[in-house]
Amino acid sequence: MLHFLWDSIPLQTVLIFLFVFLLIADYMKNRNPKNFPPTPFRLPFLGHIYLIDFKDPPAIVEKLSKRYGDIFGVQMGNMKFVMVNGIRLVKEVLVNQGDKFLARPDIPIDEEVFSRTGLISSTGHLWKAQRRFTLSTLRNFGLGKRSLEERIQEECRYLTDAFRDEQGKPFNPQPKATNAVSNVICSLIFGNRFEYHDEDFQSLLKLIHDTTVLHGAITSQLYNNFPSIMKYLPGAHQTIFKNWKLLKNFMQEQINKHKEDWNPSESRDYIDSYLLEISKDHDSGTFQEEHLTACTLDLIVAGTETTSSTLRWALLFMVTHPEIQARVQAEIDAVIGQARPPALEDRNNLHYTNAVIHEVQRKGNVIPFNVPRMATEDAYVDGYYIPKGTIIMANLTSLLFDKNEWENPDTFNPEHFLKDGKFWKNEYFQPFSMGKRACLGELLARSELFLFFTSLLQKFTFQAPPDTTLSLKPLLGIAMAPQPYKICAVPR
Ligand code: HEM
Ligand SMILES: *[C@@H]1O[C@H](CO)[C@@H](O)[C@H](O)[C@H]1NC(C)=O
Repeated sequence: MLHFLWDSIPLQTVLIFLFVFLLIADYMKNRNPKNFPPTPFRLPFLGHIYLIDFKDPPAIVEKLSKRYGDIFGVQMGNMKFVMVNGIRLVKEVLVNQGDKFLARPDIPIDEEVFSRTGLISSTGHLWKAQRRFTLSTLRNFGLGKRSLEERIQEECRYLTDAFRDEQGKPFNPQPKATNAVSNVICSLIFGNRFEYHDEDFQSLLKLIHDTTVLHGAITSQLYNNFPSIMKYLPGAHQTIFKNWKLLKNFMQEQINKHKEDWNPSESRDYIDSYLLEISKDHDSGTFQEEHLTACTLDLIVAGTETTSSTLRWALLFMVTHPEIQARVQAEIDAVIGQARPPALEDRNNLHYTNAVIHEVQRKGNVIPFNVPRMATEDAYVDGYYIPKGTIIMANLTSLLFDKNEWENPDTFNPEHFLKDGKFWKNEYFQPFSMGKRACLGELLARSELFLFFTSLLQKFTFQAPPDTTLSLKPLLGIAMAPQPYKICAVPR
């Protein structure tokens, strides 16, 4: 009987029925709860992927924020995002209600790479313990102390020597600048720096750079939305997985070397201190070698690309604004002179230079949408309902480029940070984010940027190679870096 009924229904009808069923299931699963922030029409199964302009992925949000204002929802595959704009709401989610948004989302690529360990991708108790330990250990090794300042000054000397070796001819400053920046964090983690001509370390840095750029690739985005399909397809995500394995192997080697001559009573660096913590951590599992690998890798990745990109933006802006460069040099000559290296104390007297560095960070906008957060409980923001598990993107760009706050946000102008000739810090300047999960390396990054920048401008004038125009268009990746370029460092 049943068999007969089945035979009498044409295949077409079955397919249509199945399709309608899936459509309804998709709708039920993905429909927004009551009071959810405004969300554009979503396609069944695909969400808002149709809105992406594959030639210019950030353009989608541009369009949406124009239409929907300061808070709106977007869905990509299985992930629901809420974008938050403007100082009032960004502060609301990162500070006032910060405790509800301290987690990181389950982003498929990160999960595959870090399995939610380390500093950047971990959440809850594990995150809190790693962060607390890391901050106090970095402090012990001189973060905010004189010894670290000397370490950076020493690296500034290596970098200026290396730039001088280029004899004013056009060169790409990226490899050396990145190596210098990375050495500061490496000396805290491993207790040693790497020579700029060390090919193994150079290829490691290039691997980190290439991999972070790949995170912005279309196939990586597709993997995040449809991991179960993309897993079987080629693309940037496969290279990312391969590269992170290599990076982890490098870290594991460094850790093994430390274990060979480890002396529990005398910590030389971050790895030694972490090994001690592992030996004290009997059964909680919070401090394990796997987590140590992830933490060290996170510190290098978070600390290298961001700071190096900012430094390269700084050189680029000096080349494109020679009159600003000349004023910085005049101020350095008047306050420091040529005889001694710049010190952090000089920051209080270098108002113009300090304003320039802040303007580089503002206009460089290296982490435009912050690092994604996730709601750990249901919340209300600006009257909208944000269910637990929603991904929150705080648009830092909307602060750094606020039209009402900055005189001319799209122009590079140090006057944005000056009042009556004195350096003046603006509340809208938040490139390191805000609240309890803001950048862990802010102090280190700001010390590095100041010392590297002033040391370089003390010794060189930067110029574009003859007959070249340098592009200010950013490269998309985890961090917004300038396009690779060549410049001339002319000794002063
Ligand atoms: C110009 C340089 C830098 C910029 C613009 C920057 C910016 C940021 C931003 C926006 C976040 C996300 C914070 C959030 O979720 O609210 C972050 C996180 C982080 N940064 Fe930085 N950063 C810089 C340099 C550094 C350096 C030098 C280090 C090395 C110690 C570092 C280590 C970290 C770590 C470990 C995190 C994750 C913190 C967590 O999840 O608890 N950063 N950074
Ligand atoms: C972020 O803010 C900038 C500047 O206000 C705006 O142009 C952009 O569309 C915003 N993006 C999102 C994701 O809302």
